[in-house]
This record gives sequence, C-alpha cells and structure tokens, in this order.
Amino acid sequence: MPIRLLPPNLVNQIAAGEVVERPSSVVKELVENALDAGAQRVDVVLRDGGRALISVTDDGHGMDQDELAMAVERHATSKLPDDDLVHIAQFGFRGEALPAIGAVGRLSIVSRAQGSAHAWNLSVEGGAKSPVAPAAFNQGTRVELRDLFYAVPARLKFLKTARSELNAVSEIVERLAMAHPEVAFSLTDDERSVFRLHAETADLMAEPDAARLKRLAAVMGRDFADNAAPVEAGRDGHRVTGFAGLPTLNRATAAQQFLFVNGRPVKDRLLVGAIRGAYQDFLARDRHPMAVLFVDCPPEDVDVNVHPAKSEVRFRDSALVRGLIVGGIRHALERAGHRASTTVAAATLQGFSAPAAPAWHGAPRPGAYPGAYNVSHLAAQAVAAFAPLDPELARPSARMEATPDATRLRDYPLGVARAQLHGTYIVAQTADGIVIVDQHAAHERLVYERMKESLAATGIARQALLIPEMVELDQPSAERLISRSDELAELGLVIESFGPATVVVREVPALLGKTDVHGLLRDLADELAEFGTALSLKEKLESICGTMACHGSVRAGRQLNQAEMDALLRQMEATPHSGQCNHGRPTYVELKLADIERLFGRR
Ligand SMILES: Nc1ncnc2c1ncn2[C@@H]1O[C@H](COP(=O)(O)OP(=O)(O)O)[C@@H](O)[C@H]1O
Ligand SMILES: [Mg+2]
Repeated sequence: MPIRLLPPNLVNQIAAGEVVERPSSVVKELVENALDAGAQRVDVVLRDGGRALISVTDDGHGMDQDELAMAVERHATSKLPDDDLVHIAQFGFRGEALPAIGAVGRLSIVSRAQGSAHAWNLSVEGGAKSPVAPAAFNQGTRVELRDLFYAVPARLKFLKTARSELNAVSEIVERLAMAHPEVAFSLTDDERSVFRLHAETADLMAEPDAARLKRLAAVMGRDFADNAAPVEAGRDGHRVTGFAGLPTLNRATAAQQFLFVNGRPVKDRLLVGAIRGAYQDFLARDRHPMAVLFVDCPPEDVDVNVHPAKSEVRFRDSALVRGLIVGGIRHALERAGHRASTTVAAATLQGFSAPAAPAWHGAPRPGAYPGAYNVSHLAAQAVAAFAPLDPELARPSARMEATPDATRLRDYPLGVARAQLHGTYIVAQTADGIVIVDQHAAHERLVYERMKESLAATGIARQALLIPEMVELDQPSAERLISRSDELAELGLVIESFGPATVVVREVPALLGKTDVHGLLRDLADELAEFGTALSLKEKLESICGTMACHGSVRAGRQLNQAEMDALLRQMEATPHSGQCNHGRPTYVELKLADIERLFGRR
C-alpha cells in the first residue's frame, strides 16, 4: 500500500481516541469550553449515563454564524491569540475537541453570540458537517452529543455501566466547579437531578476564600470545610492557596485530594508527592489527608501541553512548587495549633449510640509502633527539658481544684483538669464542654515536636565513618547527588565525588545509627530525580524522632497530679500539631455540652 495522508474523518477519529475516552471526557471538554466562553451557569444533562445523550448548555459569549462553522474544523481555535504555546490562559488551545467529538457521535450545536439578534445551529454526523442554519436560542451555547461511539462501535465495549459513567461525569463536573465558585452548575441524569450548585457570589472580591470554602463545602461536605486550615504561600510569581484538612480527618485513599494548576484540575505525581511529604509525620503510611490546593503561576512557567486530556502538567521549577506546597501546608497546620477535627467528637458520639468504627480506625493501635529504637541522648534531652514532668511541679500538695472559676475556663481552650481516669485519660472541664485527653499520645506528640525544634535549632549531629564508604551508582545519579551535596550536608550526610559514577560517603547523620548507606544513597538519587528534593532522609530522621518520642513519653498508667495534668493541657494549647499523635490518631476528644445533652435526650 502506498504512503498517503489519512482522510480528515479518520484523523478526527484517531484524535478522539485520545480525547474522547468515555462520556466524562466529552463532558470535560464541553464544560471547559463553556467556562472558556465566560459562562455564569453551566447545565449538564445526560441520558443513560451519557451513552444516549450528553448535553451541555451555557450562558457564555456564544458564537456567530461564521465562528460556528469554523468551530468544528480540526485545529480551529479562538484561544491562541499570540500563536504560541507559552501563554495559555484558557482551558482550550488544541482546537480538536469538537471535531473529535463530531467524528464519534451525532453532534449538534446551537449558539447565539452576545449582542446578536440571531441564533444558529449546525450538526456533524459521521464527520459530515451540515450547513449552518438559523435557530431559536436565548444566549450562549448548547452542545449536544447523541449516540456516543455509534461511528466507532468497537469502543462501546469499553464503556462501563450507566451508573459508573455517571459517577465519572459527576466527578469531572465537581472538580471544575471547585475551581469556579462564581459559576452555577447542575447535573441531571435521566431527568433526575444529581446535583445543583448555585453561584457563590458572596463578596468574591473581598473574601475570595469564603466563596471558595462554601463551594468546597457543597462539593466535599461540611466535614471538610469545618476541619480544614487555609493554605497561603507564595514566591517568585508562584502562589499556592487552598485548604489542608486536619490530619485527624484522614482517609484510606488519596481520592479526596484535589489539585488545580491555574484553575485546571490536574492529577500530578509531583503535587501528590508534595502533599504526602507535608503530612508525612502526622499520619500513618496507609492514611491519606484531604486537601484542595490551587497552584497559580505565570502561564510560561508551566507546560500544560504534555497530555491530550491536559490532566498532567510540567513545571519549569518543580522544586519551587513542591517547596511551596510542603511549606504552605505545614504552616497552615501549625496555625491550626492543637485543633483536632470535629469529626473526632462526631465519631465519638456515634460510638456511644452504635458500635460504629470511629474515623481514625485505620491507624495502628497505640503501642504497636514498628521499628527498633535507641533512646539516644537527644531524646533524653528532649524529655528532660519537658515541663509537665518537672519534679518541681510534681509536688503532692498540688490538689484537685474544687471548682475552676469561669475566667480560667474561658482562657483555656482545653480546659482545667478535673480527674485522671484509669491512669491513662485526663478529663478536663472547658467553658462549654468536656475534654478527654489520651496522656500518652499527647505527651508523645509534645516530645516529638520538641525534638524537631531542637534538631532545627542545633542542627543535625553528624557521625564520621571510620572508613569512608564508596558507593557506585550510575553517572546521572552520582551527578545529581553531588550537585545537592550542600543541602545533604545540612541534613548530616557528607559526600564527595569520586570518579564519574561513584561517590564517597564520609559522614552520616548520627541519628541514623548503623545504616545501609548504599540503599540510602540510591533512594536519595531517585527522589532527587523524581521530586527534586531529598525527602527520604528527612523522613527517616523524623520517623526516628517519632520512635524515640514514643519511648520517651509518659506511659499510660502513670499517675499525674493536678499541676502535671494542667501543664500538659497548657503545653498542648501552645504546641502546633498537638491535636493528633504521630499516626494521625487524635490526642484528645472534645464533647460540647450541647452534644452531651443530646446524648441524654435533653435536646
Ligand atoms: N461553549 C462555547 N461557547 C463559545 N464558543 C465555543 C464554545 N465551545 C467551543 N467554542 C469555540 O469553538 C472553538 C473550538 O473548540 P474546541 O474544539 O473545544 O477547541 P479549543 O477549546 O481547544 O479551542 C473554540 O476555540 C471556541 O472558539
Ligand atoms: Mg475546548
């Protein structure tokens, strides 16, 4: 067969292979087009999960007669005014969605341009375009696709049940809605309303976060909105905003993590890795935080043309973005202080009424900490420096107060200690409720935070190897490690170059003790390649701190007197992250009087 150019309809079908995978991908393209057209409301209607009909109606700027005729041509777009791929400011730019969709289903579009007295329609079936004809329509555009994949029946086999296609559509629309609180969205399937999101116009200018949070509450649920800390970080024209869920609000998968780059929902390994890094010492490995993050940067600093569906991106300075995310989340959680999520109390209340599993069920049980340990002298120091166990305070004269006075209660969010029960739990009275503290978990976290602080203040002790170790790697890995040797030295790892593919290790962080230097370097090289940062070394150091903290902290079963208990509560209030232990379990539970009254049927 001679070489030839493929006919246009076949080219469009090939493009559809990448862009139009299933109903949700069609919906994504059409809703993005509506948003690009400046729509204030977008209504999506499906029949049979999108197989029979997908319809997207918007009130955007619409198209006139000529624009409509052009819109369905391959590589026709109105979104690249500069003829370059550097300044992409809208969702679209490839100009292939409409022709691709028209090649695999029966496409019809009706549109009325802003300010125009006439509406026009056009249809495309099996790649054949009808003439543009006058029609009746208010303002904006309605795009309908009937009989998806009738032209390429082989692909029908890959569709899932109507229900799971609907779920995928729902997810796509919700994701776009999260980034656009000012736009109203609705989704209807077989005449049944799936959801309706009204426009969150509430003072978008003065309080952009408030509108955003309302929309997130509508999409992700109240729990998230009530238990998320605002994130705000920026440098060199890059900004990260959004909300980080408190660690005690954790999930079994990362499905509740949503990332947006310049308003575009993305699934990006780098960004997901950054979230993991930010939470790594607050959560057990198998638990995942909830988070919504918006990364905004100049269009020229991010390449969105990496994937036909544009769900992946490439940053010019990925280390910067990663750093902003990790720093922004950590800062947000720090400001959240000792807060543990309200879902903890909710789960507790539920536990009273039914034997349901509480929210932190998946985390390891207390005392089941993995890994060997050595209570080094750093840990000893941290424990010694620790106020609540100060022998001064442990005087037997410090007795339980008869009734704490109201001002003291108001001043202390975690209240005044009233009793220690079972040698393990501190019960405190607050202005409007009671707090129950797990003394071991709380103290462990406090010791750990103290250790991290002293690591940061005094630096990481290094230990010289008696015989420097040669580690043979591949050349790019060796170069990558050497180029970051200053940073690694700060973490206690001193290396030098030795020939093109070999590095010499002279000193290691003392905290690591005897360690597999080979394995460590290989992991570090991989991480530098993937994320641009030496995550595992920090992670290792922090997890050792965690283990030491666990063994250096007040055991359950130890009697505490009033002063010790109050000191522990005050320390918790003053210490960031003290609302959860190192595995994301809560260190305390708060029950409001109102909740307790409800328990007893008084409300
Ligand atoms: N809902 C809409 N409202 C107004 N114009 C639209 C709409 N959908 C598509 N268009 C026009 O049709 C063109 C082609 O759309 P599309 O094939 O999705 O490519 P792209 O979005 O990459 O430009 C767009 O550039 C735009 O000018
Ligand atoms: Mg488009």
